[in-house]
Amino acid sequence: MEILIKNGRVLDPATETDQPADVLIQDGKIAKIGTKLVAEADKVIDAAGCFVMPGFIDLHVHLRDPGFEHKETVETGAKAAARGGFTTILAMPNTKPAVDNGDVVRYVLNKAGDVALVNVLQAGAITKGQRGEALSEIEDMVEAGISALSEDGKSVMNTQLYREAMMLAVKYDMPILAHCEDANLVHGGVMNEDENAKRLGMPGITNSVEDVIIARDIILAKETGAKLHLCHCSTKDSVELVAKAKECGIPVTAEVCPHHFTLTSAEIEADDANYKMNPPLRTRADVDALIQGLSEGTMDVISTDHAPHSKEEKNCSMKKAPFGIVGLETAAALTMTELVDKGHLTPLQMAEKMSYRPAQILGLDRGTLKIGRPADLVVFDPEAEYRIDAEWFQSKGRNTPFHGKQVKGRVKTTILGGRIVYDWDAERKNYD
Ligand code: DOR
Ligand code: ZN
Repeated sequence: MEILIKNGRVLDPATETDQPADVLIQDGKIAKIGTKLVAEADKVIDAAGCFVMPGFIDLHVHLRDPGFEHKETVETGAKAAARGGFTTILAMPNTKPAVDNGDVVRYVLNKAGDVALVNVLQAGAITKGQRGEALSEIEDMVEAGISALSEDGKSVMNTQLYREAMMLAVKYDMPILAHCEDANLVHGGVMNEDENAKRLGMPGITNSVEDVIIARDIILAKETGAKLHLCHCSTKDSVELVAKAKECGIPVTAEVCPHHFTLTSAEIEADDANYKMNPPLRTRADVDALIQGLSEGTMDVISTDHAPHSKEEKNCSMKKAPFGIVGLETAAALTMTELVDKGHLTPLQMAEKMSYRPAQILGLDRGTLKIGRPADLVVFDPEAEYRIDAEWFQSKGRNTPFHGKQVKGRVKTTILGGRIVYDWDAERKNYD
């Protein structure tokens, strides 16, 4: 199968390429990039007016499989990913059972292999059952093929245990993906602690809930040398702490999710669980700092924290609903609309934060369009304008605060290893 992508704006952060060009894909690999390429391709894609980027890589996805298949399965999650322009996703371990041993790792990876729509990688839990009491079977999971260690959904509050895990992470050369939340400071909070929370009568979550653990984790990374990646940073001080750590040469990277750079806590008008996620939406000052951090390079990655829940679970007060919103099918458009279109990020930086940096953090040979690399690509129309419609999602989750939001930027084609795994032209026929 040969595919020729014609006349796109080719963006490759690895080589700092940003130029109009054609891309030829042969045998699942990037074969040629150049102007006016001629080939007897099986398929020609007209990418005029579109970005041609390395397929997006999401370091933070909840696939809910095993155990919560009513929220999402490997298959529906993979379909949502392909529709969102992602070609590689990292699944978090807070399933039931938790991914804390090799058997569960193999279960997810085998299922993903059968679905074959996106590269699915798995993060292993740090403690058994994510109970925070004893380390999980880390060596067994490494042998089964995990790509990272994470306790996502919570922090390992026992600092001694966490330090031990970091030393094992160094031994096995695994990044630690840290969900930073001090369990003792939360006090049942459901949204940011501020005037709006008071108005709505909701218990608040302070910035310190996050910042205290970020500081702790950075100190532990300094001491152990573990590669620390800070998940879903939401506060102003998280950006400061990451900047300082980097200045000191500590091996730390950080991610920001689209909801945290798009919305503020003040925009929660009523008690609506589609605005409930962890960490919560923060203030304008926090959002501005996150955007500046992304723009200046302090914040490395845009990840989704795709967290599907069922309608029933979310159709109740914020006080009762679970934390989390879906993100795979809205991330690229929100990044385009809120960051690129407003001049905070260049298109090349978008490709860097959504693909190249995540690949580097996991040590993958992806996230670039270099000749000979796997042909994982996304063709993205930066000018397409439309309203987000959650009913179109491939994800089982419809829990998003962005339903009805006017955005710019549409994934047109997603290609995985030289195979088209999502095509907007095929989908749009359903709506015409
Ligand atoms: O909002 C969130 N949802 N934050 C998390 O850390 C976990 C996630 C989930 O698993 O639902
Ligand atoms: Zn988390």
